[in-house]
Amino acid sequence: MSSPEALIAAAREAARNAYAPYSHFGVGAAVLLSDGSVVTGANFENASYGLSLCAETVALATVNAQGRFADVVAIGVIGGPIGPNGPTGDKPVSPCGRCRQVMNEAAQVGNRDFPVHCGAAEGDAIATYAVSALLPDAFGPRDLGAL
Ligand code: THU
Repeated sequence: MSSPEALIAAAREAARNAYAPYSHFGVGAAVLLSDGSVVTGANFENASYGLSLCAETVALATVNAQGRFADVVAIGVIGGPIGPNGPTGDKPVSPCGRCRQVMNEAAQVGNRDFPVHCGAAEGDAIATYAVSALLPDAFGPRDLGAL
C-alpha cells in the first residue's frame, strides 16, 4: 500500500509535466487504486483559459479510461509556482471546487469516502481530508439514482 508520503512523491514527479504556461502554477495528482497501482496527472492549461484541466481531474479521468473509476482508495496532490526545476513552495495545495466534485463522483461510485492528501511542492507538510470533508452534503450519482 502506498503511504501518503509516497503518493505525494508521485504527485511531485507528475507535476514536473504540468503544462501551465499561463498561470505558471504546476499541480500534480497521484491516485492510489485498490490493487496498489498509482495513476498520475498534471494540470493541462489552454490558450482559451477556461478550457484548462486540473491535475486531479486529469488523473481521475485517466483512472476511468483504464476502467478503474470504482477502485480509488486515496489521492495525493501537490502544487506550487513553477521554478526552474518544477513547482516550488511549502504550502499544501487545496483542491479546487470542480475537482472536489469530481472526487466525490469517484467516492460515491467506489463507495469509499477516501482520503485526499494535500501536500506542497517542497517540504513535509501534508494535510489530509476525507472527500466528505472537502465537499459536505455533496450532490452526486446517488441523487440521480445512478448507483
Ligand atoms: N489547479 C489544479 O490543477 N488543481 C487544483 O485543485 C487547483 C488548481 C491548476 C489549474 C491551473 O492550471 C492552475 O492550477 C492555476 O489555477
